[in-house]
Amino acid sequence: MSLVNIKIEGQPYQVEAGLTILEAAKACGYEIPSLCAFNHGECNQGSCRVCLVEATGARGLVASCVYPVSEGMEIKISSPAAVQARRRSVELMLSNHNKNCQQCDKNGQCELLHVAQITGAREDAFQGVHSETHIDTLAPGLIRDTSKCILCGRCIARCSNAHGMGILGFENRGFATFVSPAENRSFADSPCIQCGQCVNVCPTGALMEHSEIDKVDAAFKAGKHVIVQAAPAVRAAIGEEFDNPVGTPCTGKMIAALRRLGFERVYDVNFGADLTIMEEGTELLGRLQNGGVLPMITSCSPGWINYAEYNYGDLLPHLSSCKSPHEMQGAVIKSYWAQEKGIDPKDIFVVSIMPCVAKKFEKEREQLITNGNPDVDAVLTTRELARMIRRAGIMFNRLPDEEWDQDIMGDYTGAGVIFGVTGGVMEAALRTVYFKLTGKESEPVEFTAVRGHDAGIREASLDINGTTVNVAIASGMKSAKVLLDEIREGKSKYQFIEIMGCPGGCINGGGQPYVRPCFMPNEGDDILDTYKEKRAQALYSEDERQTLRQSHKNPQIIELYEKFLGEPNSHKAHELLHTTYAAREGFNEVKK
Ligand code: FES
Repeated sequence: MSLVNIKIEGQPYQVEAGLTILEAAKACGYEIPSLCAFNHGECNQGSCRVCLVEATGARGLVASCVYPVSEGMEIKISSPAAVQARRRSVELMLSNHNKNCQQCDKNGQCELLHVAQITGAREDAFQGVHSETHIDTLAPGLIRDTSKCILCGRCIARCSNAHGMGILGFENRGFATFVSPAENRSFADSPCIQCGQCVNVCPTGALMEHSEIDKVDAAFKAGKHVIVQAAPAVRAAIGEEFDNPVGTPCTGKMIAALRRLGFERVYDVNFGADLTIMEEGTELLGRLQNGGVLPMITSCSPGWINYAEYNYGDLLPHLSSCKSPHEMQGAVIKSYWAQEKGIDPKDIFVVSIMPCVAKKFEKEREQLITNGNPDVDAVLTTRELARMIRRAGIMFNRLPDEEWDQDIMGDYTGAGVIFGVTGGVMEAALRTVYFKLTGKESEPVEFTAVRGHDAGIREASLDINGTTVNVAIASGMKSAKVLLDEIREGKSKYQFIEIMGCPGGCINGGGQPYVRPCFMPNEGDDILDTYKEKRAQALYSEDERQTLRQSHKNPQIIELYEKFLGEPNSHKAHELLHTTYAAREGFNEVKK
């Protein structure tokens, strides 16, 4: 590694050659404000001009996020010219910004307000015409409001880089520029998979999840039996909303908060995850033993299902017919649970707390609604749950640790817990498939070959009692596309594939807390590199703490089959727990 000598604010430093001024300054302990530069150059347009500094050898001020350091360079961050220029850049952005901050769900987590504060841009220095506003509220998952957009381009970069999809782009030119799906279509009227990765990187409230908090409030008010179920990835991240270190498991406090919010029953989606494994594992075995369509591909991720229906309609027979865990559990709550409790399913309102934005779309699929009654009535993201907790005045960190409700669907295994991590569904299924093929439990329990947290492709070859099972895992559509094209070309060597819509799986879902180094002073500078691993570790350690770690050992799942479903993949199980898919061409019909 070659080094160069520089000075920042008159102090000498040696830094790595090739770094940008912004990176070098950070390494030396200086925080230069930035907006469009994000995550090691994932987005780096040099367009927002919030990071301007003085540097010798350069003409005038330079955008520190794109300008490299050089030998002997002297950098001035706090010169009057640099300070004023940065403030001016923010004031210009604010002059064309919807400043209705008290109504914005991003309030408190808005990076534009953050840089406004640190640059001192507090006045309405420029007043004039605002560019035209485009607001899209038609999609179940996402809302776009261009009056809050600062044209930083992060969403466009994430949509292309994470998925190779390129749904979002700049429309028009100059003052008329705005960010949108092609032709200013609604998300609902485009092949957007509604994963919400664009929301995760938006620095303002221009892209948000479509909130359903009002819907949940209305169900409480109407006196419904409001039952809540929370997905595994939520407990691994919700603590971040309340300033806990990234990766702090907060299961007990989350349960306590849900109870204080008034939910009649608080269940873990892990029960549904165990049920999914019973159905999906049996389906896989059936396909392996009876010459079914292989490779079989998991179907838990609604973003991935959207992608498959839009782009790989010919491969839909490869998808497992299993509903996703929260949909299975919702269906069980409105049938078996309702029957056991003597409650009319129409009086039950099921709320899912999810790390995912696409689940909001999923619950509205016509295949998941029976006689007008959906399996799941509302989906709240981890962030929305945190908003409800704050609104109710609940001091999250002071809550006691409480337990899930235990009746009917309170048991869960470690296999269910790891669903939240990329490779987790695969590993959970392998634990049960191994048992079914050999009659004994795997030793060790874990299949670590399928673990990892990056967005690439992982593969493993397993010999189970003489049966070779080749498996692959992909998260993010860019990686998935590689595996899908192999199947299409008849070159796939796999029997079982796990695909998750979001890079890193549900722990990095589009509904998870924002990871913003500028708001996380207690985390290391590398938090954008490490947060997925830390959240994943919270789930793996919960798996290790469980006495039961294979789905087929869940006593209440066994009871559910004995008393209600018969056996995995039975006729009744198919009616209640399985679904169908349909190819969609290009654009949806927009329901206004
Ligand atoms: Fe450097 Fe936007 S952060 S120009």
